[in-house]
Amino acid sequence: MSASEIRLVIDGRDVSVPSGTLLVDAAKRAGIEVPVFCYHPKLEPVGMCRMCLVEIGRPERDRVTGDWARDADGKLQVRFGGKLETACTTPVGEGWEVRVASETARQGRKEIVEFLLTSHPLDCPICDKGGECPLQELTMDHGPGKSRFLFRDKIDLAKRVPLGDLIYLDRERCIQCARCTRFQDEIVGEAVIGFELRGRELQIVTYSDPGFDSYFSGNTTDICPVGALTTSDFRFEARPWELRSAASVCPHCPVGCNTTLQVRRQPHADGRMTVQRVLPRQNESVNEIWMCDKGRFGHHFAASPERILRPLVRDGDALVEADWDQAVARAAEGIRAAGGDVFGLAGGRAFTEDLFQFRRLLEALGGHAGLYESMGGGEIVEQFGAGPGTDLARLARGDTVLIVATDLHEEAPIWWLRVKQAAERGASVITLGGRALPQDRFAQVALHVPYPDLLPTARRLGEAAQSGTIPAQDEAAGLVRAADILSGSNNLLIFYGCEGVSQAGSEELARVCGAWIQRSGRVGRPQNGLIAVWPHANSQGAFAVGLHTSPNDLPTRLTAKAVYLMAADPAGDDPNLAASLDAAGFVVVQELFLTESVRRADVVFPVQAFSEREGTYLSGERRLQRTYPAVPPQGEARQDWRILSDVGTRVGVELEGRSAAALLIQMASELPVFRGVDYHALSVTGTQWPPVGGKDLYFGGTAFSNAQGLGVPLALQAEGAQVASSPSRSEQESARRGMWLVPIHRLYDRATTLLPSAVLHPRMVSAEVSLHPEDAKELGIVPGSEVELRANGRQARARAVADGATPRGTALFPRSVGLPFSEPVPIEIRRAGEA
Ligand code: SF4
Ligand code: SF4
Ligand code: FES
Repeated sequence: MSASEIRLVIDGRDVSVPSGTLLVDAAKRAGIEVPVFCYHPKLEPVGMCRMCLVEIGRPERDRVTGDWARDADGKLQVRFGGKLETACTTPVGEGWEVRVASETARQGRKEIVEFLLTSHPLDCPICDKGGECPLQELTMDHGPGKSRFLFRDKIDLAKRVPLGDLIYLDRERCIQCARCTRFQDEIVGEAVIGFELRGRELQIVTYSDPGFDSYFSGNTTDICPVGALTTSDFRFEARPWELRSAASVCPHCPVGCNTTLQVRRQPHADGRMTVQRVLPRQNESVNEIWMCDKGRFGHHFAASPERILRPLVRDGDALVEADWDQAVARAAEGIRAAGGDVFGLAGGRAFTEDLFQFRRLLEALGGHAGLYESMGGGEIVEQFGAGPGTDLARLARGDTVLIVATDLHEEAPIWWLRVKQAAERGASVITLGGRALPQDRFAQVALHVPYPDLLPTARRLGEAAQSGTIPAQDEAAGLVRAADILSGSNNLLIFYGCEGVSQAGSEELARVCGAWIQRSGRVGRPQNGLIAVWPHANSQGAFAVGLHTSPNDLPTRLTAKAVYLMAADPAGDDPNLAASLDAAGFVVVQELFLTESVRRADVVFPVQAFSEREGTYLSGERRLQRTYPAVPPQGEARQDWRILSDVGTRVGVELEGRSAAALLIQMASELPVFRGVDYHALSVTGTQWPPVGGKDLYFGGTAFSNAQGLGVPLALQAEGAQVASSPSRSEQESARRGMWLVPIHRLYDRATTLLPSAVLHPRMVSAEVSLHPEDAKELGIVPGSEVELRANGRQARARAVADGATPRGTALFPRSVGLPFSEPVPIEIRRAGEA
C-alpha cells in the first residue's frame, strides 16, 4: 500500500483508495452502490441533489493526549456526526467508517426521492428515458413508494421545447442536477446552456443562437439522469429494450470514436432493420465516454433510399440494373482489354481490408493504385506517428501538443476536447495556423502567420527548438516562447493538417515535423509523434497497407484505358477530373450513392455501408479498431473487398475472398506493422474508469461499456528514407499577391455521407465566403450581400461575411459547397451581377 493510500470501512467492507478519492467513487470501486443524480465521475462535484446521503463516522482524538482514541482492542474509535453527508463531495479520510445501507441513510435518501418527485411529472409511459432512467431505477430502489405531496401542485409546463435543432427539453422532467450545464461548461468549455429563474421554476435555457450551439450537445442526453433531454432523431422512435446493439466505430473522422449502433425493425422503413441511434462506447484512450454530434446524428446516410442497391452496367447512355455475375463479367472484360493500363483510386472512407485488397488487385493487374485524398504525409506518419502507448488522457504538465494547419474543433472534435483537457491538466499547447481558431483559447502560444508562411515557420520553429537560436526577425512573433516550451518538453505530440497548404505542402509539413520528432529522439516513444488530421476516417489505413496519395498527374491518370474507383468521387469534386474520367476507356466504380463518377461508369457495384459489415479503421493515432455488422445489407450490396475478390477471380488474380477476418490474417502475415494483429487482439478489453453501461446508469450515463475491444495501436514502420526536409517549391511561392481562396473544413459539410442526415441540415455549411472587413470594403462588398467567386476558370456564388478573424488577402470558403478546390488558389471576388 502506498503512503498516499487511505484505508476506511464502507458498510463493513475494508476499502483502500488513493488519497483525494471521493467517497462515492471509493464505494463504487469497492462494489458498493451509492445512488447519485447530480454527481458524474467526469464532472466536478457540486452536491446539488443530496441523493448520495450517507452516514460518516470519523476517528476521534483523545482530548488529553491529542492522539487517535482507540478502544481496548486498539481499534480506532469513530464518532458519527448528527447529520447525513453527501458522499459525492466528500474526499475519503483515514480510518473512517461509512454507512451507506443503514436505516438512517436509507431514510434520508427516501425523503430526497420523495422531494424530487414533487415536481416530476411521472410521465414514464411516454418518456423516451423509460427503461434506462436513473430516476425510475433509483425511485424503485430508494423511493418511498407513495408521496405525501399533492399531484395537482406539480409544475405543469408545456411539453418539450427545442433547445436547438438536435436536442429537445422537457422542462417538467428536469431534476435540476446541472449535469448538462456542467458538461458544457467544464468539459466542452462552451456554456451555451444554463439555468434561468429560481426554485421550482428553475429551468434550462439556451443562450446561443442557433440554440444549443455546440458540437457535443448529444452527450448531455447520455448523462441527463431523466428524460428531460432527448435527441430530435430518436425521440419516440423506440424503447431501449426493443433495441439490439452492435459495436462500431464512427466513420466520419480520423479520431475513430468507439460507438454502439442500436437497431430495430422500423415500420416507416418497410419493416427493415435500421439504426435508431448511435451512442458512445467507452474507450478511455480514444473518446472516453463521449462523441461529437456528427458521429451521433450523421449515420442516416446508411439507411438512405438514395443508395445504389443493385449492380449497374452501361447500356448506351444509360446505366441499367444487372445481376452480379453479368456485372462482374463486364468489369473483368473491360479491365482485361486495358492490358495493364489500369489506374485505381480509393478513398479514405473505405475499410483497411478493402484498401489492402484494392492495392493487391491493381498491382496484380500491372496498374497503379492511389489514395484519393487532399492531404499528404501518411508515409511520414507511418514512421513517426504517435508511439504505441500514446494516450491523450495522460498528457500533463511538461508535455507539449503542437497543432499546425488544422482546425481541430471542426475537423476532429473529440481531439479538440482531449487537447483542451490536456491543457487543463497543465500540458502546453502551441498552435500554428493562418488564422485564429478555437484551439487558441487553451494555447500558451498561438502563432498566426500568413498561410504561405506556415511551412517556413514550422521549419524555423523546429530548428529553433533544437538549436536554441532564434532568428532576430522571429523574436517578436512568439517563436522564442514557443521554441522555449518545445525544447523543454518531456513529450511532444504534433497534430498537422492541410488548412491553407497544398497536398504537397501538407506532405512537406509532415516531413518537417517528422524530422523534428526524429532529431529529438522521440520516435516510437509513447506520448510522442505525429498525428495527421485527415479529412477521412481511414486515410491513415491506406498508408498502412501501402497505398499512397495519388500522384499529381491525376487528370492524366484518370484517362487510363481502365479506371477503377472505390469510395472516391473525383468527378463530383472537380469538373476537370470529371472531364478526364469522360476520356477514360472503361470505368468501374464501387460506391454507395449515384455520384458524378458513378454516372460516368461502365460498371457500378453497390457496396455495404459501415453499419452493415465488418472491417477495420486505422485512426489518426494509428489505433486499429473493428466494426461489427449492425443491420443486414441493403439490396444486393456487398463488401468492397469481396467485390474486388470476385473481379480478381474473373481476371485471373486470386485474392482472399472468404472474410474480412481472413484478410486481416493475410495482412498480418504480409505487412510488418500488422504483425500479431487479428480479431482476437482487437477484441481485448480491460477495466476502465468510470464504469458505464451496467444497471447503474445513474453513475456514468447511457454510454456503452466496451466489451468488444479497445483496438490495437499499430507498430511504427521501420524507418525508411531520410526525412530531412528542404525548402520546397510551395515555400518559394510564398510571395502571394491579391486575394487567395483558402478552402476550410467544416464539421457539417455537404459530403455524400452526411447530406442524407436531414436532422443536421439546419446546421450544414452553406456557401458563405468570409473576408476581412478591410478587404470587403476595398472590394466594395457589403457584408450579407451575394458575391461571385471566380478561380481557375470556375465560378460560384456565395454570401459575403465580414470577419475580423479572417486574414487579410484571404477568402475563407468551406469545402464541398461549390468550388472544387482543396488547396489555396488565387480568386477574384465581385458583387453578384457585376460584369
Ligand atoms: Fe439535469 Fe437533465 Fe435537468 Fe440538465 S436537463 S439539469 S441533466 S435533469
Ligand atoms: Fe465521429 Fe470524429 Fe465525431 Fe468522433 S469526433 S464522433 S470519430 S466525427
Ligand atoms: Fe451527491 Fe447529488 S449531491 S449526487
